Amino acid sequence: MPQSPTKPCIQVRNLSLAFGREVILSGLDFDIIQGDIFIIMGGSGSGKSTLMKSLIGLKRPRTGEIRYQGLDFWQADPGQQERILRNSGVLYQGGALWSSMTIAENVALPLEQFYDLPRERVRELVSLKLSLVGLSGFEEYFPSEISGGMRKRAGLARAIALDPEILFFDEPSAGLDPVNAKLLDDLILEIQKGLGTTIVVVSHELASIFAIGTNSVFLDAESKTALDSGSPGEMLHKSRDPKIRAFLTRGGTIED
Ligand SMILES: Nc1ncnc2c1ncn2[C@@H]1O[C@H](COP(=O)(O)OP(=O)(O)O)[C@@H](O)[C@H]1O
Ligand SMILES: [Mg+2]
Repeated sequence: MPQSPTKPCIQVRNLSLAFGREVILSGLDFDIIQGDIFIIMGGSGSGKSTLMKSLIGLKRPRTGEIRYQGLDFWQADPGQQERILRNSGVLYQGGALWSSMTIAENVALPLEQFYDLPRERVRELVSLKLSLVGLSGFEEYFPSEISGGMRKRAGLARAIALDPEILFFDEPSAGLDPVNAKLLDDLILEIQKGLGTTIVVVSHELASIFAIGTNSVFLDAESKTALDSGSPGEMLHKSRDPKIRAFLTRGGTIED
């Protein structure tokens, strides 16, 4: 049976997040649809990274639900949680590679952790993932021997090693020059199109938000909630909220 084009992959319901007694976000309600490139945007300190941490099982919400295919992650048992997490890949800032291991060994880690594959098969899979991110031939290099942009792409190869259904990125273009940032955006689009992966991106880079985002949620530090959700392009055209307009026009004129 063909899948509905708007099948929710993650449903966030009445979510609130807190550190101790300090509530930093509340009343969050949004869906991430299968195949979306979903942007979590907002100014610095608005809670983007914290929201992402709660989506990937690193930060328990104060209240509310995060449902994966209908199953509330934070009420699920450890076995169910592990299955959900095995289906997701995360690209941490800077690529977060092990400096004492080669690029190939870094990308092989998740394969070795979860599967018992022959060496030759691991080598093939690693080379395939490296070729997808434009790093063929860099198998035996160490992270310190390649550029920052290449390290991010190596981190991406590792994040897609297990063919995850969902990929998470926190500020993927942070620290990259515009050319490498664009290259990473193109890769994100290619992975979404080629593999059908649902991709969740924390970002405040406008160029990237408009280039890749199909849906989004806009977080606000002052009101400690989401001011809007939907396609970033539509938000730019339709939102009357001065904070959203200022953000999406880089502080430009809010009259139009
Ligand atoms: N470990 C922590 N303990 C206490 N407060 C935190 C912690 N991490 C983040 N915060 C606070 O939560 C708010 C949101 O932070 P964060 O999610 O990092 O925002 P963003 O990623 O949008 O910049 C900020 O006010 C920040 O100071
Ligand atoms: Mg952050």
